[in-house]
Amino acid sequence: MLAGRKVLIGITGGIAAYKSALLVRLLVKAGAEVQVIMTPSASAFVSPLTLATLSKRPVISEYFKVETGEWANHVELGLWPDLMLIAPLTANTLSKMVHGLSDNLLMTTYLSARCPVVVAPAMDLDMWKHATTRRNMQLLEQDGVYVIPPATGELASGLFGEGRMAEPEEQFEWIQNFFSKSQSLSGQKVLITAGPTYEALDPVRFIGNHSSGKMGFALAKACAAQGAEVHLVHGPVSIPVPQHPQIKVYSIRSAQEMFAQCELLFPNMAITICSAAVADYRPEVIQEEKIKKKGDTLQLNLVKNPDILKTLGHAKKPHQVVIGFALETTNELENAQGKLHAKQADLIVLNSMRKDGSGFGTDTNHVWLVEVGRVRELPLASKDHIAESIVQAIIEIKDEKQV
Ligand code: PMT
Repeated sequence: MLAGRKVLIGITGGIAAYKSALLVRLLVKAGAEVQVIMTPSASAFVSPLTLATLSKRPVISEYFKVETGEWANHVELGLWPDLMLIAPLTANTLSKMVHGLSDNLLMTTYLSARCPVVVAPAMDLDMWKHATTRRNMQLLEQDGVYVIPPATGELASGLFGEGRMAEPEEQFEWIQNFFSKSQSLSGQKVLITAGPTYEALDPVRFIGNHSSGKMGFALAKACAAQGAEVHLVHGPVSIPVPQHPQIKVYSIRSAQEMFAQCELLFPNMAITICSAAVADYRPEVIQEEKIKKKGDTLQLNLVKNPDILKTLGHAKKPHQVVIGFALETTNELENAQGKLHAKQADLIVLNSMRKDGSGFGTDTNHVWLVEVGRVRELPLASKDHIAESIVQAIIEIKDEKQV
């Protein structure tokens, strides 16, 4: 599973750095190619010679060697790995990652990396608990960086608590799991629509809905975690948009803009997931000036928007998988089955407005996976978890199509 996998390990200046030698040994023994980059202070904690010997490659820590003029190209280093692991992650490097401070080779490589990145933090109890560290960890995760959480135990300071770096064996297991899972969609292009659309009435008003983008963003992250190249087309949202090397983001406002972007991307996509809450109608005319308050009623003429899912479902080639959502308030299953047929989708994910913790804005969802001749219920769970289950169902559909 790890044979031929390229893993870049960044080691920073913390006491746990010595443990990284064992991780390098485990990875190399499993057949992975390992390149170590050390920050300038890391070599005070573990010898570059040890790591070079175990990884069978010179350790890199400087941009260039003064004696030979040899240059370490951070862009090439960033393109090389299948996975980048920074272990131990100190508070200092964490803060640099969050702010994009590129004052050493590890940081410039991190900023150039196109592969998934995972960190194993190691800090003293109070540093780990500090509000700044909490905030930085949150921002790092929003940027799509994976975290192998620290354990609770005796710390180098003598204190006891959370902050101890996950053991090398645990990091190794995480990497193994990552590669076994990430193979399923690796190299596959996935188009995802997410969030609401806003249909302008005049320069200050629009017709919109309550979609937050959470479900669609969770799907984008779940597909990226499976190795897919994700194209995420989203409407106006107020939550952070995923920042992940494998997620390309297209921000639009109206249904027509979302339709135009999806039509451009669709022919090259293996999988399309329409999770956006797209307005079915838009005002026939967008007034150039703000509509003035006049009588007791106001008549609006609305015209139909293009149905993105239906258009793509009818245009799909035999190798393409198209997934839609249905948000219903009555006759849920019947309506979802109708949409499955009318929109020529391979699967409809049904969520009901009548279920608590489900639908718009919530962090959780309760859905049914509706296919021709089969309905599966996924009980209430976080949108991240639901997204992972939907992606598993998509992988099964894809595999069946290839048979
Ligand atoms: O964003 P969150 O706050 O996390 O909420 C998630 C969600 C509730 C928006 C999501 O889970 C969901 O149900 N999305 C679809 C909502 C919807 O518009 O359902 P619908 O039944 O009206 O549409 C059916 C399908 O057709 C959907 O896949 C929709 O994206 C698609 N559609 C609809 C109209 C249109 N003009 N073009 C479309 O592509």
